[in-house]
Amino acid sequence: MIPFGRASRSKRADIAIDLGTANTIVVERGSGVVFDEPSVCCFKAYDAVPEFVAAGFEAQSYVGRAVRPFKVVRPLRNGVLSDMAAARELLRFATRAHRSAWRLSRPRAVIGVPADATEAERRALITAAVDAGLAEPALVAEPLLAAIGADLPIDEPRGRMLIDCGAGTTEVALMSLGAICYSHSVRGGGEALERALISHFALGHRFQIGVSTAERLKVQLSELLQLGRGASLVEVRGLDTASGIPKTITVAAQELWTAWERYIGEVVTIVQTALAEAPPEMSHDILEDGISLTGGAAMTALLADRIEAVSGIRSKVVDQPMRSVATGLLQLIRE
Ligand SMILES: Nc1ncnc2c1ncn2[C@@H]1O[C@H](COP(=O)(O)OP(=O)(O)OP(=O)(O)O)[C@@H](O)[C@H]1O
Ligand SMILES: [Mg+2]
Repeated sequence: MIPFGRASRSKRADIAIDLGTANTIVVERGSGVVFDEPSVCCFKAYDAVPEFVAAGFEAQSYVGRAVRPFKVVRPLRNGVLSDMAAARELLRFATRAHRSAWRLSRPRAVIGVPADATEAERRALITAAVDAGLAEPALVAEPLLAAIGADLPIDEPRGRMLIDCGAGTTEVALMSLGAICYSHSVRGGGEALERALISHFALGHRFQIGVSTAERLKVQLSELLQLGRGASLVEVRGLDTASGIPKTITVAAQELWTAWERYIGEVVTIVQTALAEAPPEMSHDILEDGISLTGGAAMTALLADRIEAVSGIRSKVVDQPMRSVATGLLQLIRE
């Protein structure tokens, strides 16, 4: 993997890709963001001879609605590649629209990966990228990209801490002099909160809700909490499992806070562990400069406040947290 700042191969890259568990963003040198859609593919006859049907927004609209012979597949699980065919087709789809603009039919690409992705996971990603028609795919650690995208001056001899709260991974990194000195990634992120909401309704209400409903509910709860309306009632659409009848039920938002607290507690533990690992000088740097939160799940209401309350260190969600890695990639290929 190439360290940031010494990425000679990536300087020649035409495009760069943030292939996330929930969203895929493609940036192109000279154009900026050219693709930003959900990381989802739909295939026909997936278990026999898979035939690509759709990806991105269109495939997302099939989630929970696809019936045989159609199958909706996510290329990544917990931040790393879990389905080769889906990864290849999504990468091909995400980079295809702009291919005609290049003189070469195989654009050179840089792709972000979790800092502690295994060798096998990296190799699988490179294979999928090559199969998708990308040339010389180079991998760069996502926390470095997120830090660059968030405008953290990581090249200085000063400790900086960043937490990338994605849908499938939560990654904390301590950086100085353009390199990662400590990183820890937990395979689990904002999606864990959605799963917790789904099981809350299944067990507590005998009510089945879909993944898309759970995500919308999560974002709605986040907004209510931010507005100080944590005691509101919320309407949820789903299926009454006893009668098999679709229904809309109304629940008090308060009963969902246990799941919320569990997710926040897990992220706080990751931060505490990282702080305990930081060398003393760097700890003081972090105390003075604060902790930066990136990734979509960083917008989970109360998360930054809780990290700040527990650690005593100023913690702030960066501007456009879902775009941090992509912005870092754009800077990388622009150099
Ligand atoms: N307002 C919000 N409150 C809480 N969570 C949110 C909000 N907006 C988006 N999210 C969550 O952010 C996550 C998507 O973030 P992001 O695009 O950074 O993840 P990703 O890069 O695809 O995943 P990963 O990096 O783990 O592979 C989803 O779980 C989504 O539900
Ligand atoms: Mg991400």
